[in-house]
Order: sequence, then structure tokens, then C-alpha cells
Amino acid sequence: MRKAHPTLVNPTAGGITGLAYALAQSEHRFHVRNIDLSAEDLTDSALWRRVIAEPSTDRGDVVKLWGGGRYAQTITPMLFSRIAETSRHTGSATAPALLYYMPSLALMDCRYPGYREVNTTNVLETGLITEGVYVILGGAGTVGRVITRLLQQRYQAKVIWLGRRPESDSKLQAQLNAFATPPYYVQADANDLASLSTALQTIQQQYPHINGAMFSGIVFDFDNSIAHTSEAQFNQILTVKTQGVVNFYQTFAPLVSDFLVYFSSGQAFSFSGAAQLSAYAAGITFADSFVHAAAQLTSATPPVGAINWGFWQSSLEEWPLDYAINSLSDEQGFTALERFTALLRQGVCRQLLCLNASEPVRAMMPVPLQQQIRLADGLTQSKTGFAEAVQALAQQPKPELATILNNPDQAKLLNLLARAVLARIEVLNSASLHRDALYQRWWQQTLTMLDQAGLIHYEQPGYRLTELGQHACLNAWPTWQTEKAYFINNAETRALALLLDDCLTALPAVLTGQVPATDVLFPNGSTEKVAGIYQKNQRVDYFNAVLADSAEAFIQQRLAVNSNRPLRILEIGAGTGGTTAMVLNRLSPYYDNIEQYAYTDISKAFLHHGQQHYGQHPFMRYALLNIEQAPDTQDFVLGHYDVVIAANVLHATGDIRSVLSHAKALLNQGGVLLLNEISDTNWLSHLTFGLLKGWWLYQDAELRMSGSPGLTPNAWRQQLLSLGFRAVYFPAESAHRLGQQIIAATSDGLVTCTPQKSVATCVESVATTTIKPNTVQAQDNAAQTIQSAIKQALSEALKAPLTSLENHIPFSDYGLDSILGVGFIKQVNQVLKLNMNTAIIFDYSTIEQLTDYIVKTYPGITPTAEPDTELARRFFNGELGVGEVLDKALLSRF
Ligand SMILES: NC(=O)c1ccc[n+]([C@@H]2O[C@H](COP(=O)([O-])OP(=O)(O)OC[C@H]3O[C@@H](n4cnc5c(N)ncnc54)[C@H](OP(=O)(O)O)[C@@H]3O)[C@@H](O)[C@H]2O)c1
Repeated sequence: MRKAHPTLVNPTAGGITGLAYALAQSEHRFHVRNIDLSAEDLTDSALWRRVIAEPSTDRGDVVKLWGGGRYAQTITPMLFSRIAETSRHTGSATAPALLYYMPSLALMDCRYPGYREVNTTNVLETGLITEGVYVILGGAGTVGRVITRLLQQRYQAKVIWLGRRPESDSKLQAQLNAFATPPYYVQADANDLASLSTALQTIQQQYPHINGAMFSGIVFDFDNSIAHTSEAQFNQILTVKTQGVVNFYQTFAPLVSDFLVYFSSGQAFSFSGAAQLSAYAAGITFADSFVHAAAQLTSATPPVGAINWGFWQSSLEEWPLDYAINSLSDEQGFTALERFTALLRQGVCRQLLCLNASEPVRAMMPVPLQQQIRLADGLTQSKTGFAEAVQALAQQPKPELATILNNPDQAKLLNLLARAVLARIEVLNSASLHRDALYQRWWQQTLTMLDQAGLIHYEQPGYRLTELGQHACLNAWPTWQTEKAYFINNAETRALALLLDDCLTALPAVLTGQVPATDVLFPNGSTEKVAGIYQKNQRVDYFNAVLADSAEAFIQQRLAVNSNRPLRILEIGAGTGGTTAMVLNRLSPYYDNIEQYAYTDISKAFLHHGQQHYGQHPFMRYALLNIEQAPDTQDFVLGHYDVVIAANVLHATGDIRSVLSHAKALLNQGGVLLLNEISDTNWLSHLTFGLLKGWWLYQDAELRMSGSPGLTPNAWRQQLLSLGFRAVYFPAESAHRLGQQIIAATSDGLVTCTPQKSVATCVESVATTTIKPNTVQAQDNAAQTIQSAIKQALSEALKAPLTSLENHIPFSDYGLDSILGVGFIKQVNQVLKLNMNTAIIFDYSTIEQLTDYIVKTYPGITPTAEPDTELARRFFNGELGVGEVLDKALLSRF
């Protein structure tokens, strides 16, 4: 089995992957499970059950079992439309559409496949340069000769060939002399490191500078099935793609300036036929793994990449006819090399599969979802400057940090909380507990933390109170009542202590389902209580300050490169603006350069908050953004922002890779993502946000810390790098033990787009095709009045005009969430004299459904209409505008 780390590739046994394709495809007596395991997982006792449970496949499709997750290889298509349209060199307008595919860099999570289109207008056209010096090992071969010809014709390149044959070989002589300027030939065997080193010395006497090196070496045999091959034959084919590949890298990587490219093949994937190509498939899968490993480990050397060709037409004279179908023309292959070297040199793409796949082959290729990727505009140059600036930030001594780290209050508070929680839950009758599955995670983590605090311990068949725990059950709640005053009277901890006190008080009611946690954290839909804990607190301020410093450092670098380009910043989940305030303050010297600061949140309640507090800045924009959905489906321009900020928000989502990819899609090339995130699990978050169901909704537990939606710094780094962020920094590393971390990551510029209708378009089409006036007319008067009351309440909760609300649109599409839902249902209850729970909005999630439910459940209901005199009062008090009064007045007539 091939061993590989999810982000750090170990190519040692990479060839086993290809050998397993050959075995599965040629030996039907075997049931092949082609599984990639990581060394660190081998101690997991459950792993072997999962290995056995893994189904075998006929083609040897490879899967990876890692950290409790199951991953499958994906291949993401890229459409270079310029090549498909026409060839700029031949002028042929009838060239068939050619697909390029970008295989996943490692084995990636099967839930994130994508269709990748690179918009070539933003991509360098070629990574090859005029009069460049290029070495091709195997240059005398079919592909090498085509590339040599076009390199010479189009780039006036100096081409050097390496091959095993002596220069005197008559066939080789003919091949060399077929060129007007014969390539410079040096005899060398890739399998022999010393031979390559000598060849390099010879080359350097003539060409001291080498721009690019291409590995085009291969030994091939059409019948190399496992059943028929001999060991010698197998080794001959394998060695050049293993030992040869490594030797070539060792010899040329230190000296080549622009790129090192390995010519690989479609045989590296299970959809290609490997039944008769056992050694070749094994060699190719090793070589590809080696390329990824080399690219990861040696950032100082030139970019290293692999281009996996389909069959070339030029090989047809020598190869069987059936390979001809869908083969690559010289033109297609060479243009692919030009584009690939361009992307490789930009650091955007390190492996490209280039083939004209037939329909059956396409059907086997793992491209399950259709997405597109574009390369965003941007400033790659700013990257280096930012790396230095952000690293300097991390090393700057910060006197306030020592004070925070040495403050004993947090430890004291945590200790009190552990005991108080035990006292509050110990009295609960298990039969009355909330049955919601999500609370199971809360309970499990609570038990773990109480155990860690020495208050309980596990003893068959369950947990028992320790002596300390028994004492806490008797005294901890009254102790909290007394001790909380210390924290409440301290400005530093006041807001947090008040919130914790509310949560502790309501804890039994929340856990027994009598009170929704949202009502405790956001009473009457107000964000005030939660806002307090994110502001005017040394610890919180410290992390916000590091984030703001990082934003400033980035912006300084960015302006140094180009001061004319306006700056665009977007904040995800800006919430109550704690981070916004700090960032805006720090960026005041650059206000003239800021074109836009997008203050976004999933809840309208927070946008209102932002408008009230930051409305004075002309560049502020306010918009709903659910980062769990693709930003382009929410009318955001992709690749548009220089800085994307998310403070204490990304962990609170179901799928971290998906939200990181959406956040990346907003960034331009070289743009920076700045995260402020929890870095450990403690009572402060567990007892507050941990009570919200949203805290536990994550579906990728294998990536999160145990008992928390947060990710460790290492997990953030792994996920960010695997999604194409180029570099990841932790500018507050010395403060991680305070339970927070700041993460800065720069984007490579590849942006995932979703070819879907925008929300606005969807709403429009629903409105025009499905709303029928007859439906409304057929309703009885009571239903009409109930519906009007619901609409009215919804309009007020959303601060949206009545006319914008449609009966069929789910409340969530308007941005109504569990927080805004509190105020909404409260008003419906008030007007209709009902006592519905806020959660009703999830069961009956449109105006129409809720109306229907109320009509059926509460027959004979008489709504309390808001009297005209009350409307007049609110109008004169400035609470309602003319439009709203008219809306209400009109509504009451229909
Ligand atoms: N042609 C296609 O349709 C196709 C499809 C997919 C992938 N590819 C890839 O494209 C590359 C070129 O293929 P091709 O069809 O041009 O191959 P080819 O015509 O068979 O040429 C292979 C070349 O490799 C050289 N070579 C083999 N072993 C070597 C060694 N140990 N040291 C130095 N040179 C060595 C040979 O020269 P000597 O005999 O003088 O050593 C020969 O010139 C290969 O990497 C292959 O995997 C080709």
C-alpha cells in the first residue's frame, strides 16, 4: 500500500498504486482494494475493520483512509477555450474541443470535486521564453522531437537532447539531422546518476544557463501484463520512471532556472487501461508522487510539475491503430506545454492531465460535480513582502501579552465554571433531557471536561462523582452566586461574566428543551449581550489587534506594489463588529485607498448593527453572505477582494473545506485571508456558544478538535495549503495558549465558480412562474389576515418592504435565522395571541406554510390588528417611515 500524508506526499511506494490498477484490470481472480494509508493511522484499531469493509473495484480505483475520513481521488477539468476555439498557429477553426484536467494534488476529499476552467485572458500565455535553453531527456523520442521542432520554430530555442544511444547511432543521426539546427546531443543514462552528472558538466561548458528541463524518457512494451512479464522486463520499464526520475531531479533541479517538467501519462489514473502496462503504470504513479513530494519539499528550486499526456498522434506510426482514436495533435500537445509551464511558473498548477478523452473514458473519470475555476486577477509580487512583514509581526515583543498571559483571573473563572456546571446539571432528571442528537456532542464534551477537572470519573457502567465533584454539587452554585460579583465588577470580565451567569442560570431549561439557547444568548433577538464579550477586553483586543496589524502589513505591501489599485476588504460574519472596529481604526491612514469594506453576515440583525456603528465611512457596504454557500450565487463578485477577514466565524459551519474554498473564491491572486479562531476547547465557549445547535452542526469531525468545532493551527495549515493557499502564517503564535489563534494565508488565485443562477434570478423565476393570484383569492378571510400578520412581522424582522416578500420563498432565503426568528415569532404570537416556539420557522418555513399551519392548528383565531392610531403614533415618533405606514395601511385592506 502507498503511504502518504494528506499534505506531505511520501512517494516511496507510490508505484504500488499503478501496479494495483494493472492487477485489478488484468487478474479477475483477485479482488483489489487499492487503499492509501498513512503511517500515523496504523495504530488505530478501527482502521482494519474499515480496510476490510472497503469494497474492491474492477479498475483498482484508489481511496485514502485517513484520520477517520474516506477520501477519493478527483480530477478537475480545465477548459482552455483558446485551444478549443482555434489554433493560433495553424488557423484551424475545426480543432476538436480538448479537455485539460487538473488531478488533485494529493488524494483529496471526494466531497470536493470540481470542474476547473482557467480563463486564459489572465494567464500568462506561455512559460517558455524566446532563445531559452531547454534540456530534454529522451528528446530523440516521438514527443521530444515534436517539442524540439516547435521550440526551435517558435522560440528560437537552444535544445539539448539526452539519450542512452551513442551519437554515432545511425537512426539517431538521422533524427538529429532532420532539424535545420540539430539539437546538441549528449549521451547519458537516466538510471545512472554519475552518467547524468557527467552529461551536465558537458552541457554547461556549452550552455552555462539552462532555462527548463523536461523528462521525456520511457521504455515501453505493449504486452507487459503481470501474467506475462519477466522480472527483468518489468524492471527495465520501471527503473527509468523511478530511479531515472529521481536522478534527473537531483542533477538538474539545482541548476535550472524556470521549470522542471516530467512527461507522465494518463496511465497514472485507474480510468486508463493498465491491464497490459503493469510496470509502466507503476512507474508513472511513482513518478507523479515524486513530483508532488519534490514540489513540497524544495521551495528554493525551480517549480517542478508533471504533465500527463494522452496518446499523441505522432506515435501512431509505431503504435497500434486503436490508440489513434482521440489522440493529441502536435499542436495541442505543444500548446498544452506552453500553458502548463506558464501556470507552473506562477505556482498555480503543478500537474495537468491533457487528453482528448472518449465518452466511455470520461464516464469513468472521477469528475462528479461541475464547477469552474478561473484565475483571479491580482498582484503576486506582494507575496514575498507580506511573508516577511507578517513574520516580523509574530516576533515583535508585545508587553500587553505578558500581562494577559500572567493574569490569574481566567484560570480562576474556568475553575469556578466547571464546578458550577456540574452543580447545575447534576439535579437534572435524565428523562427530561433534550433528545436532540446535537446535544449529545455537548454532553459528551461536558463529561470529558468534568473528568479532566477531576469532578467525575469513569467507572463501569458509567461516570461517578469524585469527592471534589460531590462537594461541588453542594456548594458550587451558591459559590458562583457570590464569586461572580468579582468578575462582574471587573470591567475586563464584566460582559463575559454576565453572559456566563445567564447561561448557567438557564442551563437546566436549555438542556431540557424548555428554552431555546438563542433566547438566552440573544434575548428578544438582541445581539447586545454577545457583542459585549467581543469588545473592550484585553484578551479579545489583543487578538483583534494582531489581526488588524496583519491587515495593515498586507495593505502596506500591496500599496507599495501598486498604490493606484483601490483596496477592497470583505469581512465574513462581521457580527457585532468587534474586529471591524479594530481593523477600521488601524486602516485609517489608508482610507483614501479603500474602495470598499464589505460588512457581511448571515443575519440581517448584525447588518443593522454594522450600519448603526460604521455608517459614517463612505466605503462601507452591508450585505448578507452565507459563507456555507458559493458567494457567486449570492451576488458577490469572485476574485474581487484583497483582504477577506473572518473572526470567530468559520468554525461555526458544517464543512470547513467548503467555507475555506468559498472564502478563497472572494480573494484575488495574492490576496490574504485573515482568520481569528479558537484554538482550544474550554468552558467559556462550551457553556455559551456551545449551547447553540449551530456549534455542533459540523459534519467533518475528523478535521476538528475533539469536542469542539475549532481546528488546531496544524489542521488549519493543512486544509489551507491543500486548497491552494500558498503560504500560511500564525502571527499570534506566542499567544495560542490563550485559546485563540490568528491565521494569515495568501491565495494562489484559483477561484472556484458555480455555474448556477444567482439568488435574484431564482427568486424572480419563482415569482413569475409559480405565484398565482387565484391562490390568494381562494383563501378565506381568516387565512388572509393571518398571512398579512405574518408578512408584517417578517417585514419588520428583516427590515424589508412588504412588497419584496413572497409566499413561497423560504424564510432562510431572506436571511431569517434563529436569531431574527425570535423577534419575528414574538410579533406573530403577539398579534395572533399565540404562544408558538421560535423553532416553528424551521418546520413551517415559508409564509404560506406557516399560514396554513396556524389556520389548521388554531381555528377561529382573531388577530389583533395594529390600530391606525398606533400606526400614527409610531409614524410621528419616527419609528415608521411613510412607505411602511402605507404598506401597513394597504395591507389591512386586502
Ligand atoms: N507518445 C505518447 O503518446 C505518450 C503518451 C503518454 C505519455 N507519454 C510520455 O511522453 C514521454 C515521451 O514519450 P515518447 O512516445 O516520445 O517515447 P519514445 O518515443 O519511446 O522515446 C523515449 C526516449 O527515452 C529515451 N530513454 C529511454 N530510457 C532512457 C534512459 N534510461 N536514459 C536516457 N534516455 C532514455 C530513449 O532514448 P534512448 O533509447 O537513446 O535512450 C528515447 O529517446 C514519456 O515520458 C512518456 O511517458 C507519451
